[in-house]
Amino acid sequence: MSIQTIMVIGAGQMGSGIAQVAASADRKVLWHDLSMPLIDKGMLVISNQLDRNVAKGRLTEEAKVSILSRIQPTGDMEEAAQVDLVIEAISENMAWKTALFQKLDGICPPQVIMATNTSSLPITEIAAATTRPSQVIGMHFMNPVPVMPLIEIIRGLETSQNVFDAIFQLSKELGKTPVEVQDFPGFVSNRILMPMINEAIFTVYEGVATVEAVDTVMKLGMNHPMGPLELADFIGLDTCLSIMEILNEGFKDSKYRPCPLLRKYVKAGRLGRKSGQGFYTYST
Ligand code: CAA
Repeated sequence: MSIQTIMVIGAGQMGSGIAQVAASADRKVLWHDLSMPLIDKGMLVISNQLDRNVAKGRLTEEAKVSILSRIQPTGDMEEAAQVDLVIEAISENMAWKTALFQKLDGICPPQVIMATNTSSLPITEIAAATTRPSQVIGMHFMNPVPVMPLIEIIRGLETSQNVFDAIFQLSKELGKTPVEVQDFPGFVSNRILMPMINEAIFTVYEGVATVEAVDTVMKLGMNHPMGPLELADFIGLDTCLSIMEILNEGFKDSKYRPCPLLRKYVKAGRLGRKSGQGFYTYST
């Protein structure tokens, strides 16, 4: 099963990174979002990233032009009928994801693989929204996608071995390291990362230390590239809250309860870097 043409759905930071990485690995990418202005903005982000690589001598100008030419923005989801693989990277909302997968199921020929970049929702449940659960799989990229080498690969209950093998192989061809994990809330990455971030928020909430102090402890004491609060802002506080809710709901264990300060920030619209304010303030 050779995957040459990929539709990426979603123009957020994950969709943008996935489109860039797939086009850089010589795949033709159809990039779809309900909002074309968001796709245009994403194309600019990708172009700027590639410019940096050209400036650093890691990419030729011709290669950059060729990568960009392989990404074709489209406002028409029906074009998913022409691809080998669809990678969904929309918001972490089960109702939206299942609605999208149902719609794709009606558009795509039966052999098309449908992957979700969900960071914590059950693959089996998303797959069950389609008539082809054997063709559905989880492909969880890390942010920033062009930099982070990992992809968590998650089978749903019905995912076929052929689909698993094709996605494992493709992940390697995208220059990533695929790791298989089981379909449990938060998989491995977010089951470990998010409680750490949530605990960092609790230490601020309880007055144990300032935001800067917590981040400095983790950066200098544990050699983390970013402090947990800086990382929370980078991921998006709404995403962090939604993952904690999924862990809390999925395991029914109070150790996963989201910190009230996280809820408060999300309610106030302090979503981190993307909104200009989270635990830190950003000039966007
Ligand atoms: N897109 C593409 N490339 C980027 C980038 C972006 N958004 N941000 C940084 N980079 C690249 C830079 O171009 C730079 O590359 P070169 O040095 O080769 O030119 C390199 O990354 C390092 O960047 P900087 O020097 O600007 O900054 P840094 O050294 O502080 O690194 C970082 C930035 C790579 C983001 C680093 O801080 C880091 O690894 N942070 C942790 C990221 C992390 O934990 N990600 C996982 C999040 S969890 C997740 O994604 C799962 C989920 O479901 C929520």
